[in-house]
This record gives sequence, structure tokens and C-alpha cells, in this order.
Amino acid sequence: MRQFILSIIVFVLYQHSAESYKVQSAPFPAVKPSWLKVCRRTDPHLNQCVTDLLVEMFPYLATGIPELNIEQFEPLHLDKVSISKGHGAIVLAGSLFDMVVHGPSNSTPTYTELDLKNKKWNLGVDFAHLDIKSRYHLKGHILVLPIVGHGNCDLNLSNIKTKVETNITMRMKEGREIIFVDQMKVNFSVGNMKIKLYNLFNGNKVLGETLNNFINKNAAEITAELSGSINESMSDIFIHLLNNIFSKLPTDLWLLTDEEFEKYNAKQELTTAKAISAS
Ligand SMILES: *[C@@H]1O[C@H](CO)[C@@H](O)[C@H](O)[C@H]1NC(C)=O
Ligand SMILES: *[C@@H]1O[C@H](CO)[C@@H](O)[C@H](O)[C@H]1NC(C)=O
Ligand SMILES: *[C@@H]1O[C@H](CO)[C@@H](O)[C@H](O)[C@H]1NC(C)=O
Ligand SMILES: *[C@@H]1O[C@H](CO)[C@@H](O)[C@H](O)[C@H]1NC(C)=O
Repeated sequence: MRQFILSIIVFVLYQHSAESYKVQSAPFPAVKPSWLKVCRRTDPHLNQCVTDLLVEMFPYLATGIPELNIEQFEPLHLDKVSISKGHGAIVLAGSLFDMVVHGPSNSTPTYTELDLKNKKWNLGVDFAHLDIKSRYHLKGHILVLPIVGHGNCDLNLSNIKTKVETNITMRMKEGREIIFVDQMKVNFSVGNMKIKLYNLFNGNKVLGETLNNFINKNAAEITAELSGSINESMSDIFIHLLNNIFSKLPTDLWLLTDEEFEKYNAKQELTTAKAISAS
């Protein structure tokens, strides 16, 4: 069931990513944005630095970064999520639509493994809680029970942990280097899931409650059954999110070579000296 829910979210997000979360073009920022932490490639603690960079950046992502043409993602509005699974223990067709997702901004980057030599950037992000309100229509069966209905749907997911693996390339854009994510794999777990589908079986309360209880009690099995299609949809969202950010941030602003780092430091010292002499 967790994965069922996640698949819903994912499909929804995917839908969204296909529309507003594709990479939106924007010029490079004229100067380093204040929310962008600087890391040095040769720093032995580079991974920690990049994790910190993400931690500092996330609150700005939540509210949107107009100068980079990045829209806010709290709450996330999603038009429609289609579900189609034709065989196996779960057979489902239908969609969730008019979705409002609260909680994506309450996320925490947990680790980074940036390996420029082997062109890999792995990272973890935890979501504390996702609270989703939507409408649905579904038809099919879940394990032994038929499911049919349309109406409102509430779903809550908590303690979601994702592990993202990527293949990256360093590309040149307008004469400056960017990191581009070419491929991504997402693995995730959900600590807890609760769903309520209203108006199942044309409003038959007994059958509706039975099915909701059944789904909530068999979350793990249902999750396992639906896992395969979800991880890939999640990758489609995350890859766009990352590229939407990092394709607009040349590495000379945040992932400095030793030479760039020295220049950056010299400039910082000059700025400080000017500030002191002016005061
Ligand atoms: C990265 O590329 C390698 C080699 O093509 C491939 O085996 C691996 O699955 C890719 N990793 C991801 C995260 O896509
Ligand atoms: C995904 O995570 C689960 C639980 O942490 C783990 O058992 C599984 O091997 C992971 N799968 C991949 C492809 O990394
Ligand atoms: C989801 O959580 C909200 C509060 O955050 C609660 O009001 C609602 O009943 C929950 N929904 C389900 C399906 O558990
Ligand atoms: C996604 O899940 C499917 C089915 O469990 C699995 O075969 C595939 O390796 C998974 N992909 C990744 C990237 O973890």
C-alpha cells in the first residue's frame, strides 16, 4: 500500500514534472547567490560540504527561486496521475486528480557521495511527511478484493527515505561548466502510510470501510507488488528537479578548483578589507 500510495504520488509528480518541473531555462546568475554555499573540489570533506550546500539551499527551493526560474514546490499542485496495472495480484486502472501535496518542503538532504572522477553523484533525501488531498477514480482489484469508486481521497505518508544514484557529465554551457545528471536510480522506503478513499462502491459504507481497512493493513504487500513502476517514476521527477537547479549554476560558483577557490578567497578578503576601511 505504501508503494501504491507512492506510485500515486510519483505518477502525480511525474505528471507535474512533465509540465512545470521540466528544466525551465534561466540565465546564469550574475553573481553567486547568497544562499549558495561554496565548496572546494579538493576538500577532503567535500561530500559533507555538498550536503551542507543542499541543506542551505532547500528552504529557498521550497519558496521558489525566481532568478533561476524555479517555482515553489510547497504545496505542490498536480493535475492528474494515471494508474494502469494490468496483471498480477494488483490490477488497477484509473487516476488521481486535482491533487494538493503538502510537505515536500519538509525534506532533509542526508548524505552526498560526489565522485567527479567516476562521474557519479549519489545522495539521500528524507521527507518527514507528505499529506495529499485529491480526487480519484479507480477500478480493479487489490489482492482478493475488488475496488471500484470515485470521489475524494486523503493520503498520508511519513518517514520517507530516498537514496538516489546518478551518472553525471560535466558539460559546457555558454563557456562555463555545469554538472548535468544523465541517469538516475531512486530507491526509497516509507515508514508509514494511511489512505482514505471516500465513496468507494458508490458510497456503500460497509464495503468502503472494509476496503480502506484492508488496504491500510496490507500496506507492505501492496507496496512490494507495485514497487517496480514507482522507483523509475521517482527518478523522472528527481532528475528534472536536480537539472532544473544545477544546469543554471555553473560549477565556478559552487564547486571550485583550487585556483578558483584562491581567487574566491582573495575577493572575499578584498571585500572584507573594503568594508573595514569604509567603516
Ligand atoms: C550508470 O552507468 C552505468 C554504466 O553504463 C550503469 O551500469 C549504471 O546503471 C548507471 N547508473 C545509474 C544510476 O543510472
Ligand atoms: C533498496 O533499499 C532496500 C532497503 O534499504 C534494499 O534492501 C535494496 O537492496 C535497495 N535496492 C537497491 C536497488 O539499491
Ligand atoms: C492525514 O493527516 C491529517 C493531519 O495531518 C489528518 O487530519 C488526516 O485525517 C490524515 N488522513 C488519513 C487518511 O489518515
Ligand atoms: C525498481 O524496481 C524494480 C522491481 O522491484 C527492480 O527490478 C529495479 O531494479 C528497480 N530499479 C532500481 C533503479 O532500483
